[in-house]
Amino acid sequence: MALLEVKNLTVDFHIPEGILRALDGINFTLREGEVLGIVGESGSGKSTTALAIMNLLPTPSGKIKKGEIFFKDEPLLANIDKLRGKEITMVFQNPLNSLNPSLKIGQQLIEVLQEHMGMNEKEALLESIETLKMMGIPAPETMIDRYPFEFSGGMRQRVMIAMAMLCKPQLLIADEPTTALDVTIQAQILRIFKNLRKSTRTSIIFISHDLSVIAQIADRVLIMYAGKILETSEVKNLFKNPLHPYTQGLLKSIPAFSKTEGKKLYSIPGNVPNLLDPPSGCVFHPRCPYIKEICKKAAPPLFKVGNSNVSCWLYKGADEL
Ligand SMILES: Nc1ncnc2c1ncn2[C@@H]1O[C@H](COP(=O)(O)OP(=O)(O)OP(=O)(O)O)[C@@H](O)[C@H]1O
Ligand SMILES: [Mg+2]
Repeated sequence: MALLEVKNLTVDFHIPEGILRALDGINFTLREGEVLGIVGESGSGKSTTALAIMNLLPTPSGKIKKGEIFFKDEPLLANIDKLRGKEITMVFQNPLNSLNPSLKIGQQLIEVLQEHMGMNEKEALLESIETLKMMGIPAPETMIDRYPFEFSGGMRQRVMIAMAMLCKPQLLIADEPTTALDVTIQAQILRIFKNLRKSTRTSIIFISHDLSVIAQIADRVLIMYAGKILETSEVKNLFKNPLHPYTQGLLKSIPAFSKTEGKKLYSIPGNVPNLLDPPSGCVFHPRCPYIKEICKKAAPPLFKVGNSNVSCWLYKGADEL
């Protein structure tokens, strides 16, 4: 069953320079129990997608212009205030901003459980310690008496994940949860997410600009570029058979997947487009090695190829969605 359905979601930022369309008609579904990866370069719209789902777009500049979001077949935004923090939680890209610096970690966790789960203080304390333990925090009984600044970056991120998992949500959105951390700590945090996959029923949207991270954690992946979804695919298919020329370029530019061993690593020529003045037709056409006339004129629809969907004219003739 679909837990979350995003239909034709279009988000604009009204800024002094004009209207910037950060998301342009994106569609996707998250199934129950699934881990869905969202990958794309900086500025492609990953965080905007997450913030739109949470109804936390910056005001007054960010606006949902078009589209609908359904959570368990009900319109989400009408109910999000009830769901946020309990059924739907998020680990933010900048964890420092989301912990209260003047409250001990334990107090912050306990408050969440009292507010959303109606626990008394003793129950909330035990549950907090249990959840911190699940995140691999050593000696949680003493850690709860510390303030956020007393934790290292990696430990703080564990606390954030604990906070997001406290109420056993149905949906967790993790926005670049490993990016700000060094490589060893990244691997540890990734292991926590792998454990969560096994030990909980929470569905996860895992955002990263790094396809090799997504490869380790997700069942399915959305490839985003300039506010569009260019391809959706099962992870194992994506690496075997990338369809979109952009996806093919991304794979070639990852050392672990590149077939150009020993040679200089590939990078996709050109730059990401300026969203205040996006390209006509397909957003990727200025950088595409397979460009045809139609690519400059019309944005491709999604075509269904096997279990994947791809927005590229090369697949015209496949089933149009
Ligand atoms: N508060 C804002 N005001 C104006 N424009 C914004 C704002 N937030 C994001 N944008 C613009 O919207 C587009 C999408 O940004 P978004 O933060 O969603 O990208 P991202 O994929 O999360 O990138 P990153 O990998 O850097 O986190 C970008 O062009 C960005 O400049
Ligand atoms: Mg982001």
